[in-house]
Amino acid sequence: MVRKPFGSLDPLWYKDAVFYELYPRAFFDSNSDGHGDLRGILEKLDYLQDLGVDCLWLLPIFESPLVDDGYDVSDFYNIKARFGTVADFRTLIDGAHQRGMKIIADLVMNHTSNQHPWFREARSSRHSPKRDYYLWNPDDQKFREVRIIFIDSQTSNWKFDPATNEYYFHRFFPEQPDLNYDNPLVRQAMLDIIKHWLDFGLDGFRCDAVPYLFKREESNCENLPETHAFLKELRRLVDENYPGRLLLAEANQPPIETHQYFGNGDEFQMGFHFPLMPQIFIALKKQDARPIIDVIRRTPPIPNMAQWCIFLRNHDELTLEMVTPEERDFLWREYAPDPRMRLNLGIRRRLAPLLDNDRRKLELAYSLLFTLPGSPIIYYGDEIGMGDNIALKDRDGVRTPMQWADAPNAGFSTAEITALYSRAIDDGEFSYARVNVAAQQSDSNSLLNAVKKMIAIRKSHRAFGRGTCEFLETKNETVLAYVRRFENEIILVVNNLSASSQTVSLWMSSWVGHSARDLLTQTEFPQIEVHFPLALAPHQFLWLVLK
Ligand code: NOJ
Repeated sequence: MVRKPFGSLDPLWYKDAVFYELYPRAFFDSNSDGHGDLRGILEKLDYLQDLGVDCLWLLPIFESPLVDDGYDVSDFYNIKARFGTVADFRTLIDGAHQRGMKIIADLVMNHTSNQHPWFREARSSRHSPKRDYYLWNPDDQKFREVRIIFIDSQTSNWKFDPATNEYYFHRFFPEQPDLNYDNPLVRQAMLDIIKHWLDFGLDGFRCDAVPYLFKREESNCENLPETHAFLKELRRLVDENYPGRLLLAEANQPPIETHQYFGNGDEFQMGFHFPLMPQIFIALKKQDARPIIDVIRRTPPIPNMAQWCIFLRNHDELTLEMVTPEERDFLWREYAPDPRMRLNLGIRRRLAPLLDNDRRKLELAYSLLFTLPGSPIIYYGDEIGMGDNIALKDRDGVRTPMQWADAPNAGFSTAEITALYSRAIDDGEFSYARVNVAAQQSDSNSLLNAVKKMIAIRKSHRAFGRGTCEFLETKNETVLAYVRRFENEIILVVNNLSASSQTVSLWMSSWVGHSARDLLTQTEFPQIEVHFPLALAPHQFLWLVLK
């Protein structure tokens, strides 16, 4: 059955939305098998609604051998049984819609699992009709300029397949053969999958690894014009048949390249701001506003309908691909002193441990997330300051069970501990006895309640999602101040990145005579004059509405 589009008729809804990234396996186990599932998410929708979440991004849920946690899809039309059924998915989407929330799912476009029937058939014979769905070569020397992404585990993007004596191409793990987008059947198959789930009622997709779809010799096979042309075709399909649905690009690229995924307003509506994220961590560590100002100034203006998705952490390593080698060394040294904290070109840690579990730093980081230009996305568990487990392999350490309560298995599952996909964090300062939702819900001073309050304020002021952003001269490099402005709403945000008290005098000639009230504390400030003096406590931030 084809479902009608849901929710607000404003096609730009995503500009005001707060997003929440959720790993279904880790969220809540409804049937006590040790793995989180879709029914579990359904049971926790009230929690997400109460937090103020507008749109959930679900990590992969389709049929998969889970070599790369579902980014290796073996059937795009079915839900992995461990996570539930297609009917459960329907119930979940309906449950979200009833609460005014939307759901987007991960769509892995670049590759399939090696267990996908297409690949099984393709590798069965050189003459298989599916052979050309993938990229084969007699040796491993083609596309030599393509970088390796999983540098810790891979030495080549080619894998020899003895059955037919040829190599196939893979950007990620060898179990994830890349699709051949030059084959029109592949392109059509992907569009059919997209139509299927949009007809089903899904509100859109977070599209995985989009820069890599097409490959051309003598290039690094990223961001090719052919890839953009196909993505524009995808957007046309959505605009013509599913207005209001969202396409969010995962394009881990420099600002200028990422920006191209918005096209002229005819490609993705949203894209992750990968270059901004590490600069936030540099700024926090150096107590210096300039890295954030510089990267935002380097980011070209985006089309009207477009919006950045800004984030602090996600399910992968904190990627350091978009920084200079010096910046990378700095971030590794400061944030990943133990080699086990490093993975590929990144850092496999969660937000709270990265920020020394320091409450003021955490809130300051959230102040940046909720007020810089773009729509924010929260990684599950970071709203309560969950920790990580660096003893686990690959990125598993940041994918441990959601800590609901000080109860067996963190209240995530009633299964035997040995049946869990991963143990909840049960020792040290991040153990579920200390860090859990139930405790923070009943503590009005908790991080959870602070985050919830910031979300509520953000959502009642459209300047945060839609406004222009003008940085103010502070004459104090440790203070980051900017004005967000939309229609007649003006909000002055001031963040003290320093661990010590600071004073600033802001040059406010454009707003002389305005009153200023802090949205967070309701404190009234003296009427604004040309020089607006402020005294800031360590890591203090102000969200001042000017009237
Ligand atoms: C990006 C995803 O975020 C990551 O988790 C995955 O391993 C790769 N794409 C491959 O699909």
